Amino acid sequence: MAETRRGKVVLAYSGGLDTSVMVPWIQEKYNMDVVTFTVDLGCTGDMEKIRQKALKTGAVDAVTQDARNLFVDCFVFPALAAGALYEGKYPLATALGRPLIAKLMVDAARAHNATAVAHGCTGKGNDQVRFDVTFQTLAPDLKIIAPVREWKMSRDQALEYAAKHDIPVEATVKSPYSLDMNLFGRSCEAGVLEDPWTEPPEEAFGWTTSPESAPDSPAYVTIEFESGRPVGLDGKAMDGVPLIEALNAVGGEHGVGRIDHVENRLVGIKSRELYEAPAAVILHMAHRELESLCLSKQAQRFKTIVAQEYADLVYNGLWFSGFHQDLAAFVASSQRFVSGQVRMKLFKGQATVAGRKSDNSLYSKKLATYETGDQFDHEAAKGFIRLWGLGQQTQANIQLLKDGRGFTLPGIAGTGGETGKA
Ligand code: ARG
Repeated sequence: MAETRRGKVVLAYSGGLDTSVMVPWIQEKYNMDVVTFTVDLGCTGDMEKIRQKALKTGAVDAVTQDARNLFVDCFVFPALAAGALYEGKYPLATALGRPLIAKLMVDAARAHNATAVAHGCTGKGNDQVRFDVTFQTLAPDLKIIAPVREWKMSRDQALEYAAKHDIPVEATVKSPYSLDMNLFGRSCEAGVLEDPWTEPPEEAFGWTTSPESAPDSPAYVTIEFESGRPVGLDGKAMDGVPLIEALNAVGGEHGVGRIDHVENRLVGIKSRELYEAPAAVILHMAHRELESLCLSKQAQRFKTIVAQEYADLVYNGLWFSGFHQDLAAFVASSQRFVSGQVRMKLFKGQATVAGRKSDNSLYSKKLATYETGDQFDHEAAKGFIRLWGLGQQTQANIQLLKDGRGFTLPGIAGTGGETGKA
């Protein structure tokens, strides 16, 4: 009986078998009321259906929240501006979503006077880390319950448990894969993918056409950026959510955005993950191309280091950290001139840049041209090169080529050997 229960727990709820079984399981094991919480970050499914299922399963309350705009504006686009790709490949869809879900769960826990939060993550993934670290940072007083880490149920036992508790289980055959998705990407793991030598079968993909069966003529999209953020598509101003949806659709149709990644998890294992992220792939490439016009050489170089650090902290669950604030400050400053347009070509699985332009472009045709109108000072190159090479020349004379020693490098033995005066 609800009256006799000891407080409330807010459970991150997807409506799948595991989180459904958790509702009665937590009630029994912890003697607590369960409030389910479902966040829509895009591609979440029918929220009302999920809500009704939670109530039927025994939740005392079932809360849903559409957080798509928040997700894009405060998580996805900042990570895009940072250039954050984990290990140079994964655009971090799931990793960006977790801290937001966790933060909203803390808010829900406060609103419902809950004393605990719960999630359905396993004990060997990154997601448990992202959830727990966020809870522990924002609300250290809340107890964290992670039933999958505690119970020793197989899928069959979970089904049995569901039947015993009248939990509706969809008749669909269980996919051999473990899937997760939001607006910024879909991930697929397990099943035959666990052998990194096995080519992913077509059935593992859900968002993209295979490059082989993609249309024979390319699509072009023009993305408008303002201070590093996408603000328009093909000449029309557009909010982030519809812009990402549109790029996922057209990119997916052309087979763009498939990423096969053997990645290093935080918990010390390598796992083979198959991502589909058409919008993310197109936007990251477009953004980098615009930066190539708008950033100085030094800023561009340094930013690759920041991008890697930023991707690591997102992947590793440290979104709510001071280090993130520090990096975000650099990124924001670096983006103040990153405005303009990039035209991308989508064709048979590839996104390539077709053109880029910006009012802040540092590219100067007058300096770059080999044709008439060249304003580059060719004379000045001579003196510049004298001084540029002076240090190396001095070292060669004093150390490397001394006493007729040849200049040895792997594969080039005994080159040179004449000494001279610097
Ligand atoms: N490997 C990716 C990550 O760590 C995707 C995880 C997907 N999560 C899931 N529960 N299937 O971000």
